[in-house]
Amino acid sequence: DWNPGNVVAEQVAKIRAQVGSARVICGLSGGVDSSVAAALVQKAVGSQLTCVFVDHGLLRSGEAEQVEKDFVAATGVQLKVVDARARFLAALAGHTDPETKRKIIGREFIRVFEDAARDIVEHSDDEVRFLVQGTLYPDVVESGGGEGAANIKSHHNVGGLPDDLQFELVEPLRTLFKDEVRAVGLELGVPEGIVWRQPFPGPGLGIRIIGEVTAERLDILRAADAIAREELTRAGLDRDIWQCPVVLLADVRSVGVQGDGRTYGHPVVLRPVSSEDAMTADWTRLPYDVLSIISTRITNEVPEVNRVVLDVTSKPPGTIEWE
Ligand code: XMP
Repeated sequence: DWNPGNVVAEQVAKIRAQVGSARVICGLSGGVDSSVAAALVQKAVGSQLTCVFVDHGLLRSGEAEQVEKDFVAATGVQLKVVDARARFLAALAGHTDPETKRKIIGREFIRVFEDAARDIVEHSDDEVRFLVQGTLYPDVVESGGGEGAANIKSHHNVGGLPDDLQFELVEPLRTLFKDEVRAVGLELGVPEGIVWRQPFPGPGLGIRIIGEVTAERLDILRAADAIAREELTRAGLDRDIWQCPVVLLADVRSVGVQGDGRTYGHPVVLRPVSSEDAMTADWTRLPYDVLSIISTRITNEVPEVNRVVLDVTSKPPGTIEWE
């Protein structure tokens, strides 16, 4: 019978056999897969593992803290946090094209991770030979099953490391589906906020600001997004929704009225979708009263936003994200 306890025991033995006494590095993204993979390796080889968290400043409210505090407290991993927020903002300045923004974020991410990894390698007495990846079974199948084939998937998978910084991969989730990964995560005591996190793109809020990414715009979007997430959670809708991007139309302004005066603010878009695998999706019919609370709260609490609109497009033809 499949049970998470057996998977943990099996994988722990396997990781120990693979890694021996060498040192291991793992990049944490704040998502389920990298967190559960790291927790498994931590259980197996403990202090031989160093996790790296690149704070690119594009995460949602509370997510960096979830990694830096809650995950560390729950698992005891040794964590190196790189505050790269200013660097990402500088690199993104002036750019509005979605694919350019993605490329910049991916490129900076690899550079920052590479520097951090190199630093760990150089300051370690033991050989650092292994890199943990949260590759799941569907990733293996999708990419043809080759070793390391999942490297093409997203920028969080560090496929582009230079020759002098090559690692052997440790992939303890390679046989698991997402729901199994969650069960293993819970078994290992990974915080529920991480285990149940809905999909979130690697480029983060960088592709949910339509237009140039700036610190002010990130603050506005983070505030609006936090309200939407809070109300969806309060309404008990988290498990019915695949994900609900909140998108800031930063270059669009519209006239509104609030209190005594006219406002000229920005719209945010709510994009709740239902999906099995993100390949296709339908817009989620959220209850009107929940939509109403979200709209009222966002326009009351986020002064720069004076309009909340609902995206009622399926995928196709719309993608889930707006960029
Ligand atoms: P789209 O917008 O293509 O999104 O319908 C499908 C799923 O993929 C996520 N997504 C990304 N994930 N890097 C990622 O790691 C990306 O550049 C990226 N773009 C979209 C999106 O959130 C959805 O779950």
